[in-house]
Amino acid sequence: MFQRALASVARRTVPLLTHNILKPSITSTSWRSSGLTATGTRSFCLARHTAPLATMRPYSVLVKAQNAFSSRKLDSRFFSANSAVAQQPLGTPMPILASPSVAGWLLLSSTLVFAVIVVGGVTRLTESGLSITEWRPITGVLPPMSSEEWQVEFDKYKLTPEFKLLNHSITMDDFKRIFYMEWGHRVLGRLIGLVFVGPLAYFALRQRLSKQMITKMTGLGLLIGAQGALGWYMVKSGLDDALLESPGAVPRVSQYRLAAHLGLAFVLYAGMFGAGMAAIKDWKFANGALWSGLKGKSIQEVFANPSFRSFRRQSWVLTGLVFLTALSGAFVAGLDAGLLYNEFPLMGGRLAPPSDELMSPAYAKRSDKSDIWWRNIFENPTTVQFDHRVLAITTYLGTGALYLQTLKPAMRAALPPMVRVAAISAFGMANLQVLLGISTLLYLVPVPLAAAHQAGSVALLSAMIHLLITLRRPGMAAQLWRQKWSAAARKSS
Ligand code: HEM
Repeated sequence: MFQRALASVARRTVPLLTHNILKPSITSTSWRSSGLTATGTRSFCLARHTAPLATMRPYSVLVKAQNAFSSRKLDSRFFSANSAVAQQPLGTPMPILASPSVAGWLLLSSTLVFAVIVVGGVTRLTESGLSITEWRPITGVLPPMSSEEWQVEFDKYKLTPEFKLLNHSITMDDFKRIFYMEWGHRVLGRLIGLVFVGPLAYFALRQRLSKQMITKMTGLGLLIGAQGALGWYMVKSGLDDALLESPGAVPRVSQYRLAAHLGLAFVLYAGMFGAGMAAIKDWKFANGALWSGLKGKSIQEVFANPSFRSFRRQSWVLTGLVFLTALSGAFVAGLDAGLLYNEFPLMGGRLAPPSDELMSPAYAKRSDKSDIWWRNIFENPTTVQFDHRVLAITTYLGTGALYLQTLKPAMRAALPPMVRVAAISAFGMANLQVLLGISTLLYLVPVPLAAAHQAGSVALLSAMIHLLITLRRPGMAAQLWRQKWSAAARKSS
């Protein structure tokens, strides 16, 4: 039955393909004829027969063909994890190639993480984050339903340092507003858990994911749970009664925990977005599309070029720098350090504040002052803002330098066309992000600008991940499927 289904897809897809080619038993002869080697290593010479394949298969039909291949009813010899393939002898199973539905699930999950980062930023900016004083992962899904229930929640809030120090004149309506903001953030977090873990289980059970992918995605799933716990750990730091005892204290969460919460959100986003983009790219490649728009050269040649390799290394370093800049931004936000030095590029009329202000002994807690360095870096708002400026400008110049490199003739020759496009968009996004950051500072952190600046940091990270994806070698499964299909097409023509 499977063979009939597959053959009918094949007939509609590639008229040139015969039943013989698609039947689920690959003989060592057919493998050899397709040009595969027994090692299956990345040193495959990827054929230049890209365009004819791309034109032969309409995309939607290919999706069906892949899904047919991925049916559970298939001969299990067809499936294995990527890593296993490298050691398999000829005529052994084809690896699992993630389908567009897998890519869609990952990109949807990453979009939801993007949304929750922005909602989380607005929650903090509107000072709503401390309105729910408990962590109830299951029952907390429902907001208070009756006026009595609202009163109970409000009474709990009245015991918090935020109410006592800041919001003592808040009304029930005001309280409901900040409560719903935080509640929305938490509900979105739960939704992400469901949207991610449900399909992960489905795809894993239906054998649509390689073992490697299942391991990685399970890791991300566990991190989503950890993120919920970390979020509560962060909120708890803002509910601590000790805040009432320190003179001049502001009721807000620990900047360390805020940075950890934002950092983990970035890791989740990067993991989902990167895996989704890689899956789309691999799928297209397996189905005959060009690799990053490359024509007239093999992928091997591109990877052998030192200029390309150096550009790739720099792109990785720069992505790390974007991440670090974003983390430093979380410290600015956590300490309300955006409310100082509201000018740019100067700080108090000079490029940098005086060194005794940047490294103030007042922040050291040890009697020998040996913690002066790190305490100032993470706890002194002036130093924190200065560091964020320095990191941001370095990131900006880095993306500019990367873009300028793509204009050099030698680099133009070394890079596939899509890499240049991705580098320009990353630089464009860095421009926008710096503009948003400066405006946030000059206008004393208004909610819409600060939220846009937070969203901009995710957009910049996305642009960098996109750049890395254009520089990424196609996955092993994609290479094998492409070889198989192109060999099948050659054989039948
Ligand atoms: C590559 C460039 C930049 C990146 C990736 C970046 C990233 C971030 C991030 C992630 C936050 C934390 C937002 C939050 O948790 O709510 C932040 C906050 C902030 N950034 Fe940037 N930033 C960049 C450039 C700049 C520049 C050039 C300035 C201005 C000098 C700036 C000023 C600020 C301010 C004032 C805040 C605090 C806003 C708040 O309290 O919500 N940023 N930044």
